[in-house]
Order: sequence, then C-alpha cells, then structure tokens
Amino acid sequence: MATRIDGKVISQQVIDDVAAGVDQFMTQHGFAPALAVVLVGDDPASHVYVRNKVKRAGEVGIHSIERRLPADTTQAELDAVIDELNSDDSVHGILVQLPLPPQLDESSVIARIRADKDVDGFHPLNVGALASGQPQLVPCTPLGCMIMLRQTLGDLSGKRAVVIGRSNIVGKPMAALLLQANCTVTIVHSKTVDAPALCAEADIVVAAIGVPEFVNRSWIKPGATVIDVGINAIELGGQRKLVGDVHYADVEAKAGAITPVPGGVGPMTIACLMQNTLTAAIAQTAQRS
Ligand code: GUN
Repeated sequence: MATRIDGKVISQQVIDDVAAGVDQFMTQHGFAPALAVVLVGDDPASHVYVRNKVKRAGEVGIHSIERRLPADTTQAELDAVIDELNSDDSVHGILVQLPLPPQLDESSVIARIRADKDVDGFHPLNVGALASGQPQLVPCTPLGCMIMLRQTLGDLSGKRAVVIGRSNIVGKPMAALLLQANCTVTIVHSKTVDAPALCAEADIVVAAIGVPEFVNRSWIKPGATVIDVGINAIELGGQRKLVGDVHYADVEAKAGAITPVPGGVGPMTIACLMQNTLTAAIAQTAQRS
C-alpha cells in the first residue's frame, strides 16, 4: 500500500517558515509584504480560490489587497489596474486570477505585470529564467510538487520522471524543475503515442491533465511516486465529490507514495504563493535600500 503524501502537513511546514520570514521582514522594515489579487468576473471557482488565497495571506501576516472587477472589464481598464499596482512600492506581489473573461488577452495581461512582482511565475522573463536554469519566481503548483517530491524521495538525481500534461501553468514548468533537479524527464500529452507505456517506466509521475481519474494502475511502475495535480468535481450517487486526475483507490495498491485529492497538491499551491510573495518582497526591498 502506498504512503499517502499529506499536503496539509507539508504545506503547514511551508506556511510556518513563511510566517517566521514575514515576522523577520516586519521587524526589519516596519511594514508587511503585500499581495494584490485581481479577480475579473463571476467565475465561482475563481472566487473560492481567491478567498482561500486572501485567507492564507492573513494567517501568515501578509497584507492582501483585493481588486474585484466586473465581467465586462475592458483590456484598457485591466491594464490601468495592473499599471497602478506595478508602480505602487507598497505592493510586492501581483496575481491576476485566471481564467479571464473572453474579451481579455491573458498573455498580454501576464506580460504587463512587473516580472519581479509576478508571484505566479507566469511572466515571459520568469518562464525564460526557469527554462535557462536560473529560476527567479517559479509557478506555485510545480514548486509545491517539488517540495513534496523532495520530502518523499530526498535527492531526485537520475530518477525517471513523466509529466502528464503540457500546460504553461503546470506541465511545462514542472518538467523544467524536474530537469533542474537532474531527473530524466518526459512530457506526455494528448498526441503522445502510448502514454501509459512511457509512464510505466517512471519513478515519478506528475499528473496534470484535468481529466477525472484518468490515470489507473496500468500506467504506474510498482513503487513509483505519484503526484496528482488534478482537482475535478464529479457527481457520484447524486453527490458532488472532488477527485484527481489519478484513480486513487486503484493506484494506491501499486504506487510507493501518492498525493490525495483533496489534501495533496492544493494546499501546497497556496503555501508556495505565500512563499513567492515573501521572496518578492525581500528582493524588492533589498533593491531599494
Ligand atoms: N487559475 C488556476 N490556477 C491559477 C494559478 O495558479 N494562478 C492564477 N493566477 N490563476 C489560476
């Protein structure tokens, strides 16, 4: 039976470290690190995510600023909000919750955020820094997955890792981080021929495809470590239930270690957002003094 990798416990360790770092920052500077969260429109899931981020920020002593904009916000209006936050020295981190309503261009919004305030790690400069092996601000979900992998396996050098999914938010930065940690990395995606066979050679599997319970035990090498990034709401017997991209009950019997959903990667993502905000605040204040 696989060991369950407890995201609640590991994220609490990250949160405790960040809270201590925030305390030290406050003592040194007399003000708190600040995170601005921009939410456009009425997507219910986005509202829940933003509420959780703001709540966590409060718990670690990070000051949060919420900017809620209507669903019909124009590009010029959103650009003006970002410009204002970019030039406000009291704001250290800026996060624009995705997805955005269709009239808004996500790429140009991401590129408009000052790279040193881009706590999501999505700005082209941060993407390039990670790809060239000199990471600055790193996307929160892959960062959280790496912390869990290091706690479970220690040194990752030489391990075979398969990332399922090639999104900009998870798959691509995850592969870059695993490569940086000296893994041999394969990305499989919807056009891959025989993804299960490639996956079955992996010591580490990171599933980030957004399809409920897609990965079953036939994909998994005995003893492999499985990180499930998926958060999918399904109806089961008339009840709403959250499941991952991995069929937990099926894979649990074969894997060496596995993250549950919920309570796995989810809490790590928010903890790493807090860590990135503190990192950004330290870098910006060091530059000014
Ligand atoms: N929407 C889903 N995940 C994310 C994330 O990590 N950052 C932002 N900004 N939006 C998201």
